[in-house]
Amino acid sequence: MRKLILFLFLLPLINCKKAPVLPTGEIAEKAMVVSAREEASKIGVEIMKKGGNAFDAMVATEMALAVSFPFAGNLGGGGFMVYRKAEGDIGGLDYREKAPLAAHRDMYLDSLGNVIPNMSTVGATAVGVPGTVAGIIEVHKKYGSLSLEETLQPVIDLAYRGVVVTEKQAKRLEGYKERFIEVNGDSTKFAQGFKAGDTIKYPQLAKTLTKIMNEGRDGFYKGETARKLASFIQENGGFITEEDLEKYEAKWRYPVTFNYKDLKIISMSPPSSGGVTMNQIFKMMEPYDLASFGHNSEKTIQLFTEAARRAYADRNYFLGDPDFTDIPLDVILTDDYLLQRMEGFSFDKATPSSEVSHGEVEIVESMQTTHYSIVDSQGNAISATTTLNGGYGSKLYSEELGIFLNNEMDDFSSKMGVPNMFGLIGAEANSIEPEKRMLSSMTPTIVEKDGTLYMVVGTPGGSTIINFVAQTILNVYEFDFSMQDAVNAPRFHHQWLPDMILFEEEGFSDELKTNLKDKGYNLFEGPARIGGKVDAIKILPDGRLEGGADKRGDDKAVGY
Ligand code: GLY
Repeated sequence: MRKLILFLFLLPLINCKKAPVLPTGEIAEKAMVVSAREEASKIGVEIMKKGGNAFDAMVATEMALAVSFPFAGNLGGGGFMVYRKAEGDIGGLDYREKAPLAAHRDMYLDSLGNVIPNMSTVGATAVGVPGTVAGIIEVHKKYGSLSLEETLQPVIDLAYRGVVVTEKQAKRLEGYKERFIEVNGDSTKFAQGFKAGDTIKYPQLAKTLTKIMNEGRDGFYKGETARKLASFIQENGGFITEEDLEKYEAKWRYPVTFNYKDLKIISMSPPSSGGVTMNQIFKMMEPYDLASFGHNSEKTIQLFTEAARRAYADRNYFLGDPDFTDIPLDVILTDDYLLQRMEGFSFDKATPSSEVSHGEVEIVESMQTTHYSIVDSQGNAISATTTLNGGYGSKLYSEELGIFLNNEMDDFSSKMGVPNMFGLIGAEANSIEPEKRMLSSMTPTIVEKDGTLYMVVGTPGGSTIINFVAQTILNVYEFDFSMQDAVNAPRFHHQWLPDMILFEEEGFSDELKTNLKDKGYNLFEGPARIGGKVDAIKILPDGRLEGGADKRGDDKAVGY
């Protein structure tokens, strides 16, 4: 009888215990790579199976994406990487492109001071000094455990062997064909009209990669490759010289870290805006019991939108390359400042963006990029996002080197107050200067819970990146989604200006949208192609790894 009474007494408590979240993604016991293409994930995993660590796998995966996913994977672009070693040390690498020495503030303006259409987005004039090769060499030098031959030879073999065109890739290539021809002429490799199932071989790229394998950084930034690259860009009207290439350096930068409830979030610092903006968004939402509002509920969307609105306003005004711009992080990341920013927020009605500017601080910036997440068998974690900016960057393709060149110069503010290709309004902090890095939204992120590795996450998506990384973390942490379900979940976006919420096509009801409109929210009408492609790994309570590979692309989690 006493046992029965005790059981009845404990029953409500037992019922309150949350049911364990069941994984729905790919599961691995030891190590995993999640990236935009199966070929790249497999190469990364093979590197780890033969004894390499997560850093070796990063070098191989980054280069394998340049071969298998030329839409965004690159040698002619740049990126950011955040790592967390098994024992807890953290760091970040900035291999972002920078402005050439010949660059100047008004370089994309005509004599009347108007932005010259396409100059910062299409062709050689849009190209920033590429940083990706310097990035992988730096990672290999500092933390690699295998030789460059061991990490790069499988990538070179893939380039010679070729990559099979998927349905999605065939559609993309068809969609961009006219633009490839406009920029490169009709003899360009990508004018051929590849179809799903064709195999594209990349022998020129294999040769460029072989030079890098044999000569390291100098195999790209000096000598024959540098000469060919600089001449090619200049012959096409661009500004990059051999001196620009020789001077390029990747930079180690300490990540932005902050707590959200019992999570510690580690993300990229400026010149990426990702970590700072996500820090602001999370801290503005922290006082609220988000889980009780429900996933993608009206209240959750309102709260997230209002936090994002305010954080993006600050992003566009305050953030830029920290080597050129004083960023008041000691103010804009404080609790007091962020509490003040949310003053005026109410669930009753929207705060119009016209009433939100950057905060007051007293003190003396096609959406295509690609992200991959890696965890090795020792527990080292890598979160890396890399880009050419637009799909296939500037579309300028060097047949001789087998590489596309970025159009990252568009991420600068060409003219104060004029939106770039992502609709982001820039300010002085992100104006163009020689050798300055353009502000980015890339948000490679690692999350700890209770001091241990919990999640590795990131996505492409231009200005949407920051919000999508934040929503994926919230899906897992607040709403108890598996990693794969968190990645699959419908997403929404608001970036201060333009003042509108963009919803993915499916997953948001008409009733929800009507309610939001009634409260004063502007909604983008029509299908918003804002999916992003989140590739993430969650560490399960039993130590196994669950991959979340985005179903919106050909993304794939591979592990062992
Ligand atoms: N090129 C997109 C970004 O860096 O945000």
